Amino acid sequence: MSVMRNVLLAGSESHWLRHQAPRLKFVKKAVMRFMPGERAEDALDAAASLRQLGIASVLTHLGENISDPSEAARVRQHYLDVLAKIKLTGLDCQISVKLTQLGIDVNEGQCRASLRALVEQAAALGAFVWIDMEQHGYVDRTLALYRQVLGEFPNVGVCLQSYLYRTPADVASLVPLGGGIRLVKGAYKEPGDVAYPKKSDVDASFLTLAKQMIAPAARAAGLRAVFGTHDLRIIRAIQDHAEGSGVPRDAYEFDLLYGIQREEQARLARDRYRVRVLISYGDYWFPWYMRRLAERPANVLFVAKSIFSG
Ligand code: FDA
Repeated sequence: MSVMRNVLLAGSESHWLRHQAPRLKFVKKAVMRFMPGERAEDALDAAASLRQLGIASVLTHLGENISDPSEAARVRQHYLDVLAKIKLTGLDCQISVKLTQLGIDVNEGQCRASLRALVEQAAALGAFVWIDMEQHGYVDRTLALYRQVLGEFPNVGVCLQSYLYRTPADVASLVPLGGGIRLVKGAYKEPGDVAYPKKSDVDASFLTLAKQMIAPAARAAGLRAVFGTHDLRIIRAIQDHAEGSGVPRDAYEFDLLYGIQREEQARLARDRYRVRVLISYGDYWFPWYMRRLAERPANVLFVAKSIFSG
């Protein structure tokens, strides 16, 4: 792992930085490259613009690790309101939630009830709910809640990270359930005994798992197969594999983050692949932004440049 990535990921966990950095105007300006604004309405406006390009969207309200139960209740209500707003716009727009934000550390029963309420409301409105994956200590609890809710409603999916050694076993056990899997490489700083330290291993694992997610058994189970990546080599490899195996373009989806690889987002849509952009909004963006920088330290340059461009 590069020194820069380590420094940025450590920074994402710093309380002092979390409170100071968002006050700086230039930091805020740099962040706007990756998020259209702090309000749900800003995200919905961006989703409407993306629709013009044939790109669907998924909204996420930034925040994590809630320690106050009333805050978790506010997050739940916020997402219920957002689902209603999405319905009014008629957009193909999903939501993606973090269980720490729904209070899994405070009261797991209440977190389950909140997740269930969101998925139930989404089902009634014809929408879909994704569960983000967080640090490795949350995987078992996250998958347990996912299985419970999926037992009642089909419109829910979970994110899995190819950097974890356990993920092949998780994919094998979840695929037969249908539902949805959004495969990503993984964004957190994880120890070498749970996650591949080498990027080449993370990439290789991603491709192997992606192939399993569009294999005949997964398609027969009705799995919603989503690949959350900006890695053009991996995107092309999945496309080639699907083409060679007779898997149609509408049998899987590529999801990318707002503001990253915009050209590729548009190209995928033009080439009639399913493509969706995850739009983050909210005022709790500092740790999230630091993780985006860690993914591509060259982005630090954008921050540096915006200091000088006012
Ligand atoms: P990689 O990091 O190898 O990047 C490939 C190329 O993409 C780079 O060379 C660069 O060109 C471009 N790129 C990547 N990141 C960039 C950036 N920040 N700025 C500019 N260019 C960039 N993680 C997690 O742990 N839990 C989760 O729930 C999710 N959810 C999620 C949803 C969606 C839709 C996406 C796209 C990603 C996530 N992630 C996530 C994040 C994921 O784990 C991973 O950290 C990032 O996607 C970066 O990895 P890539 O696959 O893009 O490849």
